[in-house]
Amino acid sequence: MRIAVTGSIATDHLMIFPGRFGDQLIADQLDRVSLSFLVDDLQIRRGGCAANIAFGMGCLGLRPVLVGAVGADFADYRSWLERHGVDCDSVHTSEVHHTARFLCTTDENHNQIASFYTGAMAEARLIELGPIAERLGGLDLVLVSPNDPEAMLRHTDEARGRGIPFAADPSQQLARMPGEEIRRLIDGAAYLFSNDYEKGLIEQKTGWSDEETLDRVGVRVTTLGPKGAVIDRKGEPSLHVSPAPELGKADPTGVGDAFRSGFLSGVAWGLPLERCGQIGNLTATHVLERVGCQEYELGRQVFLDRFAAAYGAAAAEEVAGFVRCHHP
Ligand SMILES: Nc1ncnc2c1ncn2[C@@H]1O[C@H](COP(=O)(O)OP(=O)(O)OP(=O)(O)O)[C@@H](O)[C@H]1O
Ligand SMILES: [Mg+2]
Repeated sequence: MRIAVTGSIATDHLMIFPGRFGDQLIADQLDRVSLSFLVDDLQIRRGGCAANIAFGMGCLGLRPVLVGAVGADFADYRSWLERHGVDCDSVHTSEVHHTARFLCTTDENHNQIASFYTGAMAEARLIELGPIAERLGGLDLVLVSPNDPEAMLRHTDEARGRGIPFAADPSQQLARMPGEEIRRLIDGAAYLFSNDYEKGLIEQKTGWSDEETLDRVGVRVTTLGPKGAVIDRKGEPSLHVSPAPELGKADPTGVGDAFRSGFLSGVAWGLPLERCGQIGNLTATHVLERVGCQEYELGRQVFLDRFAAAYGAAAAEEVAGFVRCHHP
């Protein structure tokens, strides 16, 4: 199954200031702030929703096709993703802009000053799915993850127009998109992904009830944080998928993306929805246990052992025939 994963590709630059921002701000001079914080630590982490999701699928042994826009600075990141099984041949490289970048400085009281530079991401709206489908001999699913909003609408419209099944994953962009556009992203989707908070936001902004949303999508997958996930289809009872026990909690950033990696891998392997949700939950747990979105390793044996412990030997047996982890 050929899956195109569209969405943002970015790096996070995270710095720590060993003092308090508040101490540096002079109350009666806020009209001419000129500050430079000497920071102790700089961590550069690979991120972006599409890159995170494609990375996870690559780690599980698939060959997802990453679709997004980057700058000329993408070379190192590209080679990292390619080494983890991601097809980067359809990534668009901007001639003028840098890859999207999140810059965040945190002080000792956890106050943050951050900026998000969109950069090349704005050019994602120039990407056509047609030539990508042609290169691959067809596409079986297009995932539309958070990205330049114009690009999200365009990929959805194009998939719909070409009769390619698509999965809607509007997540963070729900906050800024109007209801009318959100309806366009979701209507007719084979899969709809969100967390439980975003599920409410979708209903509020589209004006579609729980039932009406189900009328318009094939499968709705709602993640519930530490409670796992719930899978709904019209006319079927809800399927609750319990979480995979975590070995420790380091940083939850990227768990949602990792869930999608696992779930869609199960879909690609033709497994039943319950298994897809379980693979999603266990993949998400790997991210939770590490700081960073792409810092985890998926070892095949460890993955299957943990799968068996969480969901039983028979379920693990069913999955074992497909999981071809990138790491031994
Ligand atoms: N404490 C936890 N223990 C086990 N699994 C967890 C835990 N928290 C999250 N998960 C897993 O991660 C999945 C996604 O979590 P969540 O619903 O918080 O996504 P999210 O809100 O989209 O996160 P983000 O957008 O920050 O990546 C859950 O369905 C579950 O599988
Ligand atoms: Mg999320």
